[in-house]
Amino acid sequence: MGIAKDTAHPEGQGQYTSLAEIREVCLQCRKCKLRQGCRQVVFGRGNPEARLMFVGEGPGEQEDIQGLPFVGKAGQLLDKIIEAAGFSLEEVYIGNIVKCRPPGNRVPTLEEARTCMPWLMKQIQLIRPKIMVCLGSTAVQGILDPSLRITKIRGRWAERNGILIMPTYHPAALLRDESKKRPVWEDFKQIRKMYLALAERECTAGNPIV
Ligand code: URA
Repeated sequence: MGIAKDTAHPEGQGQYTSLAEIREVCLQCRKCKLRQGCRQVVFGRGNPEARLMFVGEGPGEQEDIQGLPFVGKAGQLLDKIIEAAGFSLEEVYIGNIVKCRPPGNRVPTLEEARTCMPWLMKQIQLIRPKIMVCLGSTAVQGILDPSLRITKIRGRWAERNGILIMPTYHPAALLRDESKKRPVWEDFKQIRKMYLALAERECTAGNPIV
C-alpha cells in the first residue's frame, strides 16, 4: 500500500473532479464483503480543502449508524484534542482506511484495507492536505508501510508525495490507556507548529516583502 497517484474514475469517465462525486460512487461500492455486514458506507467529514487531514482505521458502531467517521467516544475525544491544539473542526478533514464497519469492530484485514484504499487515495488527491495524521497502526500501515509499528514510529515526521505525515496513537487507545495522552499531546504540538510554519512560509512566498 502507500500513497499512490490515482484519481481515475472506475467507470472510465475520466478523473474525479470533486469529493462529492467520489462520495456518490463510493457509497455504491460493493468491492468487499464488509459492505454486506454494515449499515452504510462512511465516506468522510470535514473541509474538502483542508490543509490538515486525519486518517483512522474504519467505522465503529456509532459511525455505521450516523454515516460519519469518528462520532463515537473515540471521535469525541479526537474532536476535543483537535480543538485543544488550536484547530477548528471546520478546517480539517477526517477519513478512514476502510469505509465500511468491520464486524464487531475487528481490525480490517490487509485485503480489505487494500481493496478500500483507492477511495482514500482519491480523497487525498482531491483534498491535497499539507499534513496528514495517521491515527494508529492500521492507518500507519495503510499509508506508510505494512511493516511499521505505531509504538516505534509515533511522533516522527514522514513524507509521501509532498505530504507531511505524523503518526500518532489512535484516540481509542487513549481511552484504554491514559499514559498515551501525553505523547499524543506532544505529537499535536508538533503538528500545530508545522501547520503554522507552513502557512507562514506560503504567506511569505506569496507576498514577497521586497
Ligand atoms: N475509529 C476509527 O478508526 N474510525 C472511526 O471512524 C471511528 C473509530
